[in-house]
Amino acid sequence: MEIVIVESPEQAGALVADAISELVTRTPTMVLGLATGSSASPVYRALGSRSASFARARAFLLDEYIGLPPGHPQSYRAVINREVESLLDFGNDAVQGPDVHADDLLAACDAYETAIADAGGIDLQLLGIGTDGHIGFNEPTSSLGSRTRIKTLTDQTRRDNARFFDSLAEVPRHVVTQGIGTILEARHLVMLAFGAAKAEAVAAAVEGPITARVPATALQLHPRATIVIDEEAAIRLQLAQYYRETWSGKPPWQGI
Ligand code: F6R
Repeated sequence: MEIVIVESPEQAGALVADAISELVTRTPTMVLGLATGSSASPVYRALGSRSASFARARAFLLDEYIGLPPGHPQSYRAVINREVESLLDFGNDAVQGPDVHADDLLAACDAYETAIADAGGIDLQLLGIGTDGHIGFNEPTSSLGSRTRIKTLTDQTRRDNARFFDSLAEVPRHVVTQGIGTILEARHLVMLAFGAAKAEAVAAAVEGPITARVPATALQLHPRATIVIDEEAAIRLQLAQYYRETWSGKPPWQGI
């Protein structure tokens, strides 16, 4: 894994936005995997100020809440609409999320897997990490081979996400999320984490043993995983100095 320790979320956003811009310029039909939440936002803000065109690109959301009415401002579809689609020139229907309003939710999960496969798979998947070690909404003890499915959020994740809602009671209990097996099929994983609250989860993900107890440890199985974190999120890493000294200053996907 490549561990990149930066000074601020803005610096991380600029770095990853540069890499995505370079990728979409080289491969205009690229497929981008979108995370929702505060960690990915700096990337979207930075991309909005770049000139790269996404007119021929496609994108897939990682996950979505179940139970919010269509168009609810905190549904991940609405957040991505505000933070990504309103800034970038994706075509109509080029950005897809799981259909959590389908009558047959299980069939909708399978259909989402098929849609990702039919698009040729995801070239670059953005990820955040939960304080409990989740990626997507794959909560602790999710199978490392799991596919898109319904999951129940932990109380910890619901408390963490309550900041986006008026009250904890409004945070949905259930979600549809790409599985860990689905995420691992993306050709490049880029995980972002900022702040001391993420330090323990980041250390477990990067330096701990691979375990379903900490789903983000699955990134250790991926041949191209880049972890971009700030100094606070890095405080529990035992090899932080080694990562600082060995990072080339250039993302590995450039020039490959
Ligand atoms: C969001 C997602 C989650 C978040 C994670 C961190 O699509 O899949 O895994 O990335 O909960 O959330 P933030 O970035 O808000 O701290």
